[in-house]
Amino acid sequence: MKVRIFDTTLRDGEQSPGVALSPENKLSIAKKLDELGVDAIETGFPVISQGEQQAVKMITEANLSAELCGLARTNKKDIDAVVDCGLKYVHTFIATSDIHLEHKLHLSQDEALEKAVESVEYAKSRGLQVEFSAEDATRTDRNFLKKIFTAVTKAGADRIDIPDTVGYSTPQYIAEITKDAIEATKLPISMHCHNDFGLAVANAISGIQAGAQCAHVTINGIGERAGNASLEELVMALQCLKFDQSWETNIKTKLLYDTSKYVSKLAGMPVQPNKAIIGENAFGHESGIHTHGVLSNPLTYEPISPEIVGRTRWLQVGKHAGVHGINAMLQEYGIEPNNDQTRQILEKVKSIGDQGKHVTDVELFSIANEVIGDTKLKRLVKLSGFSVSTGIGNMPYAFVKLIIDGNEHTATDHGVGPVDASLNAIQKATGKISEIKIKDYNLASISGGSNALCEVTVKLEDATGNMISSKSIGEDIVITSVQAVIDGINRLMLKKSLREKKV
Ligand code: KIV
Ligand code: ZN
Repeated sequence: MKVRIFDTTLRDGEQSPGVALSPENKLSIAKKLDELGVDAIETGFPVISQGEQQAVKMITEANLSAELCGLARTNKKDIDAVVDCGLKYVHTFIATSDIHLEHKLHLSQDEALEKAVESVEYAKSRGLQVEFSAEDATRTDRNFLKKIFTAVTKAGADRIDIPDTVGYSTPQYIAEITKDAIEATKLPISMHCHNDFGLAVANAISGIQAGAQCAHVTINGIGERAGNASLEELVMALQCLKFDQSWETNIKTKLLYDTSKYVSKLAGMPVQPNKAIIGENAFGHESGIHTHGVLSNPLTYEPISPEIVGRTRWLQVGKHAGVHGINAMLQEYGIEPNNDQTRQILEKVKSIGDQGKHVTDVELFSIANEVIGDTKLKRLVKLSGFSVSTGIGNMPYAFVKLIIDGNEHTATDHGVGPVDASLNAIQKATGKISEIKIKDYNLASISGGSNALCEVTVKLEDATGNMISSKSIGEDIVITSVQAVIDGINRLMLKKSLREKKV
């Protein structure tokens, strides 16, 4: 059966502490969500500001396929603001729990019910599709919840939403009140679950199992406090886990990772590394037992293939590493140590790990270099010309000339400083050929004085999610940074070409 995905990244997601999106950013996220295949987008809460109205209008004019909705409290002004933005669908809400009625709204249950009914009638009179939410439904008196749902249905509501506003429900309880709502209204029901106890996705699924047809979700699970049910987790759980019946959504799962990164960047909210599906570690393996298993059959330690969600598996060496993992990682760069060399490399890796240090692929590379002697990379990209200019009053800019696979590529670009300008120019010159992004840049001075040696470490990612780190040491910060990046690009391209040969 189809589950309808109602995305509220642009409304509840934007209510995450510290997140504020410009109208342009909201529009570009709405386009991404539409490409991803969400069925409905909650575009915003129009009444709150002019910028919000501008953003919602821009989205309504963008000709998207998803249904577009706006949030409104149960009053005419809020509903009018939704209509004025060109929306045809309102999500209107009023709190119904005793704690909210008494301490926030100062209304009795009857007064709240009357407001809800009047607003639904008004929204219908303005030609809107109406989804009604009883805010804090899961802490609301169960009989009153049924009563208000019945009343708004009679008033013309088209959909009912059950918000677990403070993530307080258990999967069992939310299933019970979902059944109540279906019985009382016979309308399509949505689940709107917050993650205060880490149960948002489980609660939303429980509601769906009880008969709800729609889930309110956000990209990366962003939202008030601990966030909302995460779109990625919910969609993949519905698609991949065993239930009494099978579920599907319209989501193009291959776009999940890309959409997650896009939203994380624009919202300025990094994704925790161990977040399911989209976290950096979700398809990374370190321990010897796991890498060995994954190398012989990925499904031993991966519940789904990373490609399904637009990702790539990666291996990390560390004190838990084993022979298979080390060999597999080195082979990705065309390095094939013999048994004795692998053992020596492994010992060194474990001793670094035992000192509590992280062994990046850079360190693995240099250990292999030490043990084998000749791990020189085949270099696909060579720097053949470079200049940079900086000063006061002029924006720094850089020129690079690269030889990529025998062909010359040049580019100039600006930046906030000479390093930024140089790295931008390199990215521009490599363009479609390597499509790299610089994910992390670290500069450390490794000796004192103005002629100190500096160490630059960069983390690069290519378009398919392959990630590597690369390091360079030198006297000139700009040149050392350029070398670290070029070195990294070479390794990413080599890794990619070896992978493609294998396929
Ligand atoms: O969590 C909540 O209760 C909400 C309402 C606006 C539905 O976001
Ligand atoms: Zn919410």
